Amino acid sequence: MGKKPFIVGNWKMNLTLMEGMEFAKSLRNVVCDESEIICGICPPIVFLKDICRVLEGCGIFVAAQNIHSEKTGAYTGEISASMVKEVGCTHVLLGHSERRHIFHETDSFINAKIKAALSVNLKPIFCVGETLDNREDERTEYVIRNQLKEGLHGISAGHIKELVIAYEPVWAIGTGKTALPEQANEVHSFIRSTITDGYGKDIANSVYILYGGSVKPENAKELMAQPEIDGLLVGGASIKFESFLKIIETAAKY
Ligand code: 13P
Repeated sequence: MGKKPFIVGNWKMNLTLMEGMEFAKSLRNVVCDESEIICGICPPIVFLKDICRVLEGCGIFVAAQNIHSEKTGAYTGEISASMVKEVGCTHVLLGHSERRHIFHETDSFINAKIKAALSVNLKPIFCVGETLDNREDERTEYVIRNQLKEGLHGISAGHIKELVIAYEPVWAIGTGKTALPEQANEVHSFIRSTITDGYGKDIANSVYILYGGSVKPENAKELMAQPEIDGLLVGGASIKFESFLKIIETAAKY
């Protein structure tokens, strides 16, 4: 498809500020001005400002792991889209399965968050994915179609182009079980055809669709070799610099 590989590290609730800063400096040294890939990291919220400073002016983007849908107000403990934008983030993860399942975020709340992000020009990395039960009940496509339909409700074609979609099968996250590359490719293809139905082929082809779920240096190659996989959203293997770098180097070949 002629797109640059797109690699994102989601640190989740890991690392100290010092470790995060060291990581960002090391990443800057090796990936800066790297034109072969698009690369970003998602540090914990309280590290964002410092990490954005380290990566300022270099090609690596910084994403928040979450935002609230409201612009301002009495939402103790929450952070708005414009706040993370102000400290230098360009992207935000939304609809992550840990937010959906542990924090009970609904499709309509995620939809409101996507709209809040887009309203300040913050690019959403919108995660979708089925549970093991869904897959065993052969409801994978139904669940994902629904997550896309509800999550993207009321969003214009122009804004869809700004989105990155991440397919993260819940059963593959943090379990060591990766989806078979062909299995992941099949769902990516389904996601792209759903976007085609709603917004047309050109937009669907331009949207990045990433795979996430137990991505490691050992399986990055076979995942990236799939035609519908445009990049990777890496959890556990992104908190160790060496393994994240190996994944980046592997992906850069595609
Ligand atoms: P793991 O790579 O640890 O399975 O996590 C995937 C993920 O949730 C990335 O957002």
